[in-house]
Order: sequence, then C-alpha cells, then structure tokens
Amino acid sequence: MTRTTLRQSVVIGTVLCGFVLATFAGGCLESFALGSGEKKPLTDDERMEWWRDARFGLFVHWGLYAVPAGTYKGKRIDGIGEWIMHRAQIPVEEYEKYAAAFNPVGFNADEWVRLVKQAGMKYIVITSKHHDGFCLWDSAVTDYDIMDATPFKRDILAELAKACKKHKIKLCFYHSIMDWHHPDAQRPFYPNYNDTKRSNPNFERYVETYMKPQLAELLAKYGPLGVLWFDGEWIKDWTEPQGKALYAWLRDLQPDLIINNRVGKGRKGMEGLNKSDDEYAGDFGTPEQQIPATGLPGVDWETCMTMNDTWGFKAYDDNWKSSEDLIRKLVDITSKGGNFLLNVGPTPEGLIPQPSIQRLKVIGDWMAVNSESIYGTTASPIGKPDWGRCTAKGDKLYLHVFDWPSNGKLEVSLAQADIAKAYLLADKKKSALPVAAHGDTLTVSLPGEAPDAVASVIVLVQNTK
Ligand code: GLC
Repeated sequence: MTRTTLRQSVVIGTVLCGFVLATFAGGCLESFALGSGEKKPLTDDERMEWWRDARFGLFVHWGLYAVPAGTYKGKRIDGIGEWIMHRAQIPVEEYEKYAAAFNPVGFNADEWVRLVKQAGMKYIVITSKHHDGFCLWDSAVTDYDIMDATPFKRDILAELAKACKKHKIKLCFYHSIMDWHHPDAQRPFYPNYNDTKRSNPNFERYVETYMKPQLAELLAKYGPLGVLWFDGEWIKDWTEPQGKALYAWLRDLQPDLIINNRVGKGRKGMEGLNKSDDEYAGDFGTPEQQIPATGLPGVDWETCMTMNDTWGFKAYDDNWKSSEDLIRKLVDITSKGGNFLLNVGPTPEGLIPQPSIQRLKVIGDWMAVNSESIYGTTASPIGKPDWGRCTAKGDKLYLHVFDWPSNGKLEVSLAQADIAKAYLLADKKKSALPVAAHGDTLTVSLPGEAPDAVASVIVLVQNTK
C-alpha cells in the first residue's frame, strides 16, 4: 500500500487491529465450539499438536539481500548473506536501492509449496520482514515493501498463502523485532545497526505504530498462521515484559497461534533453549545451527539450520551439507523430540537454488518411504544406540539404522520388552524379522543388504496388554 501520511497509516493500522480482532474472534469460535454455545479455549497441548506432529518444516530467508548476494562494491562480504547491510555498513539510502533491482519474476508459489510437500515438510516459515526492514507483503504502514518499492509488484506472502492453503501446508512468518530501516528503531545506529548497548528513545513508537500494526496486518491478511517466529530480540530496547505483552496480544488476535521463544529474552544464545532462572515468553526453544545432545523431556524445541553457510542467498556459498547428512540430522532431531526447520535462500530471480532443490528431493524420497517414523513421534526411550537412532509412537518403536551390522544382527537395549513383531518399514508386506531376547538385549536378525544406505527403519511393535 502506498504510504499516505504517518498519521493516516497509524489510523489504518489501528482500524485494522480492530478488524483482526473481529475476524479472529469469529474464526476461532468454530474450533472452540462445544456444541452448547459454551467456549473452551484450546489447551497448550492441543494448540501445539499439529506442530509436534509435523516435525519438519522449510525456513525461507528472502528479501533485498538476495540482490547483492554477498558482494558489495565488488568485495565479498564475510558472514551470513542477510546481514550484508550491517556487515558492509551500507547506508540506508543506498541499501534501499536494491529494491529497484528486486524483480523475482521466476517466483512460483505453487512450485515452492509442491516442493515442500514432496520433501515431506508440513510448514513453511518465511521472512515477512528481516532485520533490514524490507517487507515481502503490501504493508499499510510503509512503502518499503514488495508492492511499492520494487518493479515486481506482486504480494509474495499473498501468493504463498494461497498455495499453502491449496496444498494444506501451514504458513508461518519469521518477523524481526530489530529493524535497521525504521528511524524509531536501529536505523540511526548506522554504521552499527546491531548496536546492543544503545537505545532509541522512540523505540516504543516503532513498536506501537509500526511493528504491532504490521503483525496485525499479517494475521488479518494471511492468517490464521501456524507460527510467528520472532528474531532480533537481543537489542537493548526489547525487554522480557514487552515480549510477554506481545505474546499475550498476539494470542488474543489468534488464540491458537504458536510463537517461538525469541519473542522474549529467554533464550540462551545459539543454544536456543530457555534459561532456567525464570518463566519466559514463548512456546518453543530455537537452537540455531545445532542439535541438542539429548532429548529434553517436556520441552518443545526446533533446530533451525542452513543447507550451506548462509540463510539469505549468497551467490558463491557452495559449502553444501550432503543429503545424507541432512536426513540423518532430521532423524537425530526427531529422536530427541525436536522439530527440524531447514532453510533455503531463494535467488533475486525468485528461484530456490538448485543444490537446495536436489537435497529436498532426496530427503523427500526418503520421507516417501519412512515418514511414518518421523511424523507424530516422540523422543527415543532407549537413548542414542551405537548403530543409529530411535523414535517412538504408540505401540511402535522405529529403529533408524545408520550403520547396518555386517553380521546381520542388530542389538537393541530393551529390557523385558514384549515384542509382537519386527519388520522393515520399507517392506510393504511387513514380513516378520526374527527377534530373540537375551536379558536386557533384543537381537533383530536383518537381511544382508540395508534397504537404505542412509537410514533404514525397522519397526518394533510392542505387545500392549
Ligand atoms: C540469526 C540471524 C538471522 C537469521 C536467524 C535464523 O538470528 O541474525 O539472520 O535469520 O539467525 O535463526
């Protein structure tokens, strides 16, 4: 939306918030209806259910930083691509010019979402606004967005929302609290936009008249959303009480919304889990580029990770993780009760880089056979076996064998287990594999060849009495 005046924009934002409240109050009643007209809010477990079942989602970092793609004034800039504005100390007025060059005519929301679905992912988290402040939708409170500032003039989030609805993929937004473009936020801190010591005296105005109206727009126009995934919460201006207030405000707008722990100040750096000294805002922890060593009973968490070394597109970053590695990471994370949010950084032409597509396809082929051992499972009850990982669901244990035993005998530490049957998940006939118990160890006899070189899944069905 073209910028009117700041005052008009604020009014629009405020009106929109009212509209959102009305829309969502109406929308959510359905899922809450008890029949007698009585309304019962979802419990936290009910609210988290789809997310815990999903286990696997796509992270998309896309914005103006895709245009420089890691190079500024002919120099390769170190570090993650979406930080180039800060790393290369690019003045706002100069960075803004990338908008005129952002024309991703190759963008096809339906293709992206089909790729996500084929990979076995259940949700997409895309950057509605990253730290640079540029918006991927037609925001009412700024013209620094895809419709007003670029030649593209197509609402990317609207197109994605439509495709997600069609393919039943949950749409979620990453949204940066830190904003290097807004004068009431970090913009005046140039050349150190990421200054964590200084405060902007007008920050509260940014929160009330810009950030919150924008969040209300996102919920009203593209909701109901799966997750709001905040980031950039480490700045001095943002506090835990503000995080808690924002969390409550958003849950009022959409009661079943899931919100990550970066909405407040709880997380322990890149480890991503909450500090244990207090109660912090947010529904799940956010380990970044790392996987916790063990499962974490009672804690929801999601590891976010890049396929190469950057979130936003960098033309020359070729340090790709292998598909095998990524599949095993998905299994490892699931075996510890977490979710995996795997990133792609599309090009300025609107394309997901080929190496990312290839990897998603290989993961998808594995998921086509083995997703039962991922979706809706919980952490391993037998820790981390030497040969691989384990997940659990109902009466089943899924043994993910990374190292196929050369003697054909898989040893499982399972005390007094009463096993009804064992079979290969890849075997449609579910032919029984012989199982023998010796004390606290079960031995499953396996065929000579692993059905999958990366991770073969054996299902153990336990007798339930
Ligand atoms: C970091 C970076 C950011 C990226 C995010 C993903 O916080 O600042 O650029 O979006 O990690 O988790």
